[in-house]
Amino acid sequence: MLKLTSENFSRGQTGLILALLIKAGTDRFGMNTPAIRFRCVTRPQVNPDVQWRRSMSKGLPIPAAQRGKIAPQLAHVVFRTPQPEKLVQWYCDVLEAQVSMGNAMVYFLTYDEEHHRIAIARLPGLTEHQPMAIGFDHVAFTYASPDELFATYERLKSIGIEPYWTINHGPTISFYYNDPDGNHVELQFDIQENAAAANEWFEQSDFEVNPIGVKVDAEDLISRYRAGEDTAKLFARPVILPDLVMAQFPAPLEG
Ligand SMILES: [Fe+2]
Repeated sequence: MLKLTSENFSRGQTGLILALLIKAGTDRFGMNTPAIRFRCVTRPQVNPDVQWRRSMSKGLPIPAAQRGKIAPQLAHVVFRTPQPEKLVQWYCDVLEAQVSMGNAMVYFLTYDEEHHRIAIARLPGLTEHQPMAIGFDHVAFTYASPDELFATYERLKSIGIEPYWTINHGPTISFYYNDPDGNHVELQFDIQENAAAANEWFEQSDFEVNPIGVKVDAEDLISRYRAGEDTAKLFARPVILPDLVMAQFPAPLEG
């Protein structure tokens, strides 16, 4: 049986693993992971019209499920750092972002209609990253197509920014980068057509045995994609032996 230990993976991967394990609801990794039931809104509990009238009569906002969309939207991510200028340049490069506001304490970066998607704050008294510390693991950005991700990979490589981990998760092809402070940033594209197809993939794949993915060689993947290989086969996550699952993680980082 596979054992999930601190030696098996590098810092910052705890959150990913726990999320995946909860999704898998399995003890295949040597952890007693019960099938947890969460109190999550997945569908309207009452007729939307009735809910609407109830909320209106009480002066309450209509819940997101009744509005037919998820709210609130994710607005921005904030990093605290002793070297904001380095991080600003890195995120401008990686995300093709612009500085919308900046001063001695904080910079705001945006790459779309939002006033800021990334904030980078200079704060006193910061401490170094602690390996395996509880908390934030990584932030992921989705590209609309393989072409966009692959072009970004090449653009970043040309300026010396390369991923430390390239993997086929199953729902996504993901390239992971470290920013100058060692924060993890995932750039990805969706393999599955939409969320429903991704959920179907979770149900029908070997995700319970392998919630991590299968490493890919980015250069090989890109060249085969551009050579016209059938993407249904090229991007299909291979089934691997359970003993090889933990080996899909990148080598542990120093520090
Ligand atoms: Fe992710």
